[in-house]
Parts: sequence; C-alpha cells; structure tokens
Amino acid sequence: MRARKLGRLFNDLPLRRKLILTFLTVVGLGGVLTLLIGTRIEQRTIMTLAEAKVGHDLASARMVYEERLNGIRDTVRLSAVREIIKEALRTGRVEAAAATLDFTRRAFGLDILNLTDSRGRIVIRSRRAGAPRGDDVSQDPYIRRALRGEVAAGTHIASREELAKEDPELAERARFRLIATPMAAPRPDDYEERGMMLMAAAPIVDQADALLGVLYGGLLFNRDYELVDRVKEIVFKGEKYKGHDIGTATLFLDDLRIATNVLDDAGQRAIGTRVSREVREAVLLRAETYIGRAFVVTAWHITAYGPLRDIEGRTVGMLYVGMLERPYVDLRNRVMGKFTVMAGLCALFLVGLLSFIARRITRPLGLMVEATDKIAAGDLDHNLELTGRDEIGHLAGAFNRMTENLRAARQDLTQWTKTLERRVEERTGELRKTQDQLIQSAKLASLGKMAAGVAHEINNPLTTILIQAHLQLERCTDGDPSKEALTLIAEETARCAQIVGGLLNFARQTPSRAEPSDINEIVDRALQLLEKQASVRNIRFVKQLDRTLPQIRIDRNKIQQVFSNLALNACEAMSAGGTLTVSSRWSRDGTCFELAFADTGTGIAPAHLAKIFDPFFSTKSFGTGLGLAVSYGIVRQRGGTMDVLSDFGRGATFTVRLPLEAPAENSEYREDMS
Ligand SMILES: Nc1ncnc2c1ncn2[C@@H]1O[C@H](COP(=O)(O)OP(=O)(O)O)[C@@H](O)[C@H]1O
Ligand SMILES: [Mg+2]
Repeated sequence: MRARKLGRLFNDLPLRRKLILTFLTVVGLGGVLTLLIGTRIEQRTIMTLAEAKVGHDLASARMVYEERLNGIRDTVRLSAVREIIKEALRTGRVEAAAATLDFTRRAFGLDILNLTDSRGRIVIRSRRAGAPRGDDVSQDPYIRRALRGEVAAGTHIASREELAKEDPELAERARFRLIATPMAAPRPDDYEERGMMLMAAAPIVDQADALLGVLYGGLLFNRDYELVDRVKEIVFKGEKYKGHDIGTATLFLDDLRIATNVLDDAGQRAIGTRVSREVREAVLLRAETYIGRAFVVTAWHITAYGPLRDIEGRTVGMLYVGMLERPYVDLRNRVMGKFTVMAGLCALFLVGLLSFIARRITRPLGLMVEATDKIAAGDLDHNLELTGRDEIGHLAGAFNRMTENLRAARQDLTQWTKTLERRVEERTGELRKTQDQLIQSAKLASLGKMAAGVAHEINNPLTTILIQAHLQLERCTDGDPSKEALTLIAEETARCAQIVGGLLNFARQTPSRAEPSDINEIVDRALQLLEKQASVRNIRFVKQLDRTLPQIRIDRNKIQQVFSNLALNACEAMSAGGTLTVSSRWSRDGTCFELAFADTGTGIAPAHLAKIFDPFFSTKSFGTGLGLAVSYGIVRQRGGTMDVLSDFGRGATFTVRLPLEAPAENSEYREDMS
C-alpha cells in the first residue's frame, strides 16, 4: 500500500523533479555502493599490506633472534678452544679458568657459562663462586650432543632447580606470578618458574681429538629486555605514533609474556600477561605462524606470532612482533574521508549537471505546455521556437505544423461563416422580397375583386350620366349658361369613367396575348407618345438600347402600358425638366432582359418606398395611384420583377426584368388575379 502511495506521489511530481530524483537515487545508490565497496577494498588492501609488512617484520625479528643465538654459539665455541680451559680439565686446577670464564660470560652478556668434564659432570659454574659442582648434566640435550662432539645451539627451557643451581637470583628473576588475562586459555597453576634461554654447547678436545669436556653457555630471556628492544630498534627503528611505539616485540615462554616492550595501562612492560587462546592454539599447538589483527594488552595491533622450538623440535615459546593498528586505521579513515568528500563533491557536481540537463530536457516541454495552453485559449499565432533535431525538436515541428493547420482551418471557418452569413442575408432579403411580393399580390387580388365589383356597378350609371351630359350639350345653344356646367360634368364624368376603366383594367387582368415582339420597339413606341408633352416641359429622353436583343414572347399592349406608366411617372417627377434615360440589356446571368427607367426627378421619400406599388397610393393631387400597381401586376403576370432604386431629391430608377420564357398560363399569380 505504502509503495503504491509512494509511486503515485512520484507520478504526480513535475517531470524535472522526477528526472532529478531518479538521477539522484541512481547516483546516491551508486555512491553509497562505491563507498562501501571502496572501503572494503581499501581496508583489505591496507590490512593486507600491513599484514605482509608485519610478516616481514617477524622474519626480521627472527633473524635478530638467530643472530643472538649465533653470537652465543660463537662465544662458546671460541672459548672452548682456549688453552686455559683445556689445562683446567687436564690438571683439575680450575680457579684460573673459572675467572676467565666469568670474565668471558660478563663480556658477552651471558647469564651462565659452565664447564663439564668428559662425562658431563660440572667442573665450573662461572656465575657464582659457591655454586655446586660435580653434578651430572650429561642428560641435557645440548650437553649430550656436545659430548658426542657436536656444537649445539638453540632455545632451551630450564627448570627452576637448574636455574637455582646456577644462582637463586636467576631462579627468582625467572619466576612469574601470572596476571589474569581475559582471553587467555586457562592454566592449572598461577605462576611460572621455568626460564627460557638461548643455549649453546661446544665440545672441548685435545690435540689428539680426545674429548676433554664440554663448555656451555646460556642467556635467560625471563625479564631480559635486551633482545626485544633490539628487535624494536632494528625492525621498527623506534618509530612512534602519537606518543606510542608503533612496533613492539615480545618473547613468550609457552603463552606467557616473559620479555616485552608492550606497555600496560600503567606504562610498565606488560610481562606476566598471557596470549589469547586463539593465538596459543594456532602457534603453540599447531606450530603455525599467526598473522592478524589482535587486541594486545591495551590496543588493537596488527600482529605476527611465530613459534620458537627447542633443539628437539618441541614448540616451547613464541616470538611476537606487532604494529599499532591505529596509524593504519587513521590512514584508512583519512583516505576514506577524502574519498567521501570527493564523492560528495562529485555528487554535488552531478546534481548541478543533472539539474542543468533536466532543465534542458524539460524546458522545451514546459514551452510546449505553455503553447498548448495558449492554443487552447484560442491564440493560434503562437509559434514554438525549438530547432533541436531530437524527438522534442520533431515534436515542436509537428506542433507548429498543427498550429498552422489549425490557423488555416480557423481562417477557412471564419471565411465560411462570413459567406454563410452573407448567403443567409441574401436569402433573407430574397425571402422578404418574395414575401413583400406575395403581400402585394394578395392586396392586389382582394382590391382587384372589390374594385371590379364597384367599377362594374359604377360603370353603367356613369355611362348614363356621360350620355345624358353629351345629349344635353348637343341641345345647348351657344351662350347657354348651362353649357359650361354641362361641359364640366361631361369632362369629370369622362375622368371618372377613365378611373373606373383603369380600375376594371387593373381588376380584370385580362389574359395576355403573348406574341414574339421586339422589346426595344415597344420602348420606342411608349416614349413616342410622350415626346411632345416632354419637350414642352423641357425633359430630354435618352435611349441606351441594346438593339441586338432577340424577340421574346410578350403581350405587347400590356408591356407598352407598363413602359408608358414608368415614363409618365418620370416626367411627372421632373416638373422643372430633366433627363429620362431608358436602357435595355441582358441581365447579368443572361436569363432576362433588363429595362431601366432612370430619371433625374424628385426621387421617392424613404417613407414612401414601401407603398408606391400599393393601389391608390399617390402623392399627386391628380394621381389615381394605380399606375405602378397595374404595371407591377402586368410584369408579375409575365413572370418578371420590378424594382425601384431611389436617391431622394435626385432621381429614381425603376428596373423591369422580363425572363426570356413566359411562365405557364396556369401560374399561381394568375389564378389569384382572376
Ligand atoms: N419616377 C418617379 N419619381 C418620383 N416619384 C414617383 C415616380 N414614379 C412614381 N412615383 C411615386 O409613386 C406614386 C404612385 O405612382 P402611380 O402608381 O403611378 O400613381 P400616380 O402616378 O397616379 O400618383 C406617385 O404618386 C409618386 O409619388
Ligand atoms: Mg402614375
């Protein structure tokens, strides 16, 4: 559970942290592992070197030991050939020889130097004047060998009695009360009385090689520090570390320290203490050389213990050299300290480098995220400035292309929307127009029906009035006062009849008699009728007619009526004179003829624009308001359209569009009008 939680936490980290954390873990683990392994290797190397050195030191110590032994042997051998000794043996007068031997003994630092006769009985014990004589020492292994004519030398273990015979003081010097040592093997007794000696024995022979006796000498090691100090001096050159001797040497009788320069807590030579059981078993019992780390008296040492054998090959003691471990430990710690500091610095440097690299890796991603956010917010003009050739560079390229495509798509969309809006507007306009036309048609239809009814009813009375008025006028003589009134009645009635005729005309929507006609010709005719009237009013007609227009099928009379209406309205709008320009042309899409009547008259007030096609809408005092309504009806019946463009105050343009093909006879519009 916990691991999963950690995993989730890790996943939620920003990429840069994730990278750094991963790198750090790897570097940290690697560092710790390297440190551990390094420490082990280093420790092992240093310790191996130290152990090798201490091994060599032991060999050197052994050489010092052997050298001392050789010294004793030489002393004994050379003394054995002296005439004064032989003389004493031959004559039995020993005083002079005893003095000589005592002198030699002292001179060469021996503890004993004794003479026996040819059967191995003591003749002289040079150390002490009152020492016993005549006792048999022929069973001693060294003397036995010398009695056989050999020179024998080696390590010897002397009993207390033996030592006491030489000198009670020697016996006393050899005696140790054992000091309890925690790691040592238990011993039955709590003291040691034997002495460990270097011993040499040489035969004394006369000219004829006959054995006269044996001379033997020895050096007691118990509490004699000369040898160990010499070893220390020669092998370790007296080096010190923080006030302590680096190297020490010890002689062991069995497992007991009898001569040493290892100091105890009180600064005394640590004699009387014993070696650990482990070392004892290795060296004394198995006669091996022990090299290794050991706690010696007060401190850890790197130690070497070698067995010491007597002349019969029994392991009787040990020779030890040891070096303080401290300097090596300190050396190791120093090296490790430096190593750790360097590793730390390396790690720091790596972390710096890593964060730099991580930044380099994650920065483009950050930019990309930023760019994505911007794009999501609609800013498509944002471009990523990443030019690398790696995956991120490719990604950035793809990203930019995507943005570009998006931009293009958006542009298309905007364009499209605009087009759509325009189309909708167009369609709406068309729809409105159609609707207006429908409304117009409906108005015309209902009005037409009503007007037809009214006109029909009015027509007969009007006709009656007109006929009666004319009859009365014919009967009137000149000067008749009622003549004027009758003339007025006749005129006004005629006008009424004209209006009614127009109404009927409008309402009737007589079926068209379409035949192929030249549209320009119809224009000419319509204008011709008005020309005289126009020139009086200072109005100019300009014709811009496309004479190549083909003939189309139309009801010539009706269309002429339309054109006349338009031209007449134009003239009426130009009471102060002006120009009426009539043009004919193909429509732009080539499906219709367009006929435009453009005048320079008053124009139409915007408020009136919507009403001018309504029946009875007129701004003129004499107007019927039917001209445009009727014209509109005719054009629609033919399937065409009529539009007006007005520039109020400057003129108006009416445009009639007539399709080439007339609509089917039973069109909707026609049915409405009938
Ligand atoms: N060319 C024009 N210039 C200015 N106004 C016009 C023009 N043609 C028509 N009109 C306006 O449209 C109205 C209706 O015309 P119309 O139906 O012919 O009726 P009437 O001519 O009898 O008034 C006119 O009264 C006039 O106000
Ligand atoms: Mg009119």
